[in-house]
Amino acid sequence: MIIGVAKEIKNNENRVALTPAGAQELVKRGHEVFIQSTAGEGSGFMDEEYTEAGAKILPTIEATYEKAEMIMKVKEPIEPEYNLIKKDQLVFTYFHFASYEPLTNAMIDSKAICLAYETVEKSDRSLPLLIPMSEVAGRMSIQEGAKYLEKPLKGRGILLGGVPGVRPAKVLILGGGVVGTNAAKMAAGMGADVTIMDLSLPRLRYLDDIMPANVNTFMSNEYNIRELISTHDLIVGAVLIPGAKAPNLITRDMLKEMRPGTVLVDVAVDQGGCIETCEPTTHENPTYIIDDVVHYCVANMPGAVPYTSTLALTNATLPYAIQLANKGWKKACKENKELELGLNIINGDVVYKAVAEAFNLPYTEVSKYLN
Ligand SMILES: NC(=O)c1ccc[n+]([C@@H]2O[C@H](COP(=O)([O-])OP(=O)(O)OC[C@H]3O[C@@H](n4cnc5c(N)ncnc54)[C@H](O)[C@@H]3O)[C@@H](O)[C@H]2O)c1
Repeated sequence: MIIGVAKEIKNNENRVALTPAGAQELVKRGHEVFIQSTAGEGSGFMDEEYTEAGAKILPTIEATYEKAEMIMKVKEPIEPEYNLIKKDQLVFTYFHFASYEPLTNAMIDSKAICLAYETVEKSDRSLPLLIPMSEVAGRMSIQEGAKYLEKPLKGRGILLGGVPGVRPAKVLILGGGVVGTNAAKMAAGMGADVTIMDLSLPRLRYLDDIMPANVNTFMSNEYNIRELISTHDLIVGAVLIPGAKAPNLITRDMLKEMRPGTVLVDVAVDQGGCIETCEPTTHENPTYIIDDVVHYCVANMPGAVPYTSTLALTNATLPYAIQLANKGWKKACKENKELELGLNIINGDVVYKAVAEAFNLPYTEVSKYLN
């Protein structure tokens, strides 16, 4: 198969969909890999590293889309990319269709095959191509939170791990899923006094078993949240209700109960946030302050660490890309249910129910294409 890797053009997106190591794995299996010049630069991968791995470099985004049978990307296509995508071309990337109708309509019009990272799903309902970014964001939430607790950045001026003779900071994590667990690991490793809250008792039992002694678990409800917010220094929002807006676990009035300089990191901001006063921010301007409480609400946290994020993402996507390249999308999806669930739009038909429902579009069973 001819695989094209385009350079991301979305503002501040430095990740790339394939590393030189990934290119080598595809070339080794007899595929042709074309990389748009400088596509990997933002993540620290130079054109020469790709050519050494057996890939070829193309000068422009147009040439890359023109050549490829399968386009591998990271972010959802944005407007200047819509017209580059061709009929019958396989596009393997994050799409998040349900959140943006113009993209959905453009991909319907393109008649391409859109296989979305975010809906590739394992039989245990986990989302293997979303997990790596949650791992990155969860770990980063503590790094960022610790930084904003510093006085010059308007925090309380408390060191997360304390020092001998001085108590550590208290970290409260709302949601004990992938983000929350990774946040807890980092906070615990830095010596903080950590509490994770979740609604799921089995999850709390599991976390209690595996976490170190400086991590406690606590049932999530309004009463318990109110009890803890006045004594905690860093609060991380990490809840998810799949397909729905995150619930407001911390409401506007609760800010008054927090100490000045408390830091809130709402990782769930991409689902509307679980802190009522959360508004999406960017890496250029990550925080704002309400009632002396620092809010950090960056919607694409992994974007700040493109090296780690690219490797984490491509570790997860490459096995699927190899199946798609080796077998073609039809056979690969027929033989692997996980990949089949990634199919969102084929030849103008919406084959993913939630996307059709989001915009009242006709829904077509994917079996129309896989039989
Ligand atoms: N900002 C970013 O850059 C970024 C990056 C990656 C992920 N995210 C977001 O982070 C959020 C969490 O993702 P995840 O992968 O950890 O999800 P997950 O499904 O692994 O975990 C979510 C957890 O929230 C719990 N939960 C649900 N309602 C709750 C409540 N009322 N109180 C306490 N816990 C509750 C669930 O039981 C579950 O354990 C998602 O919204 C995801 O999109 C953001």
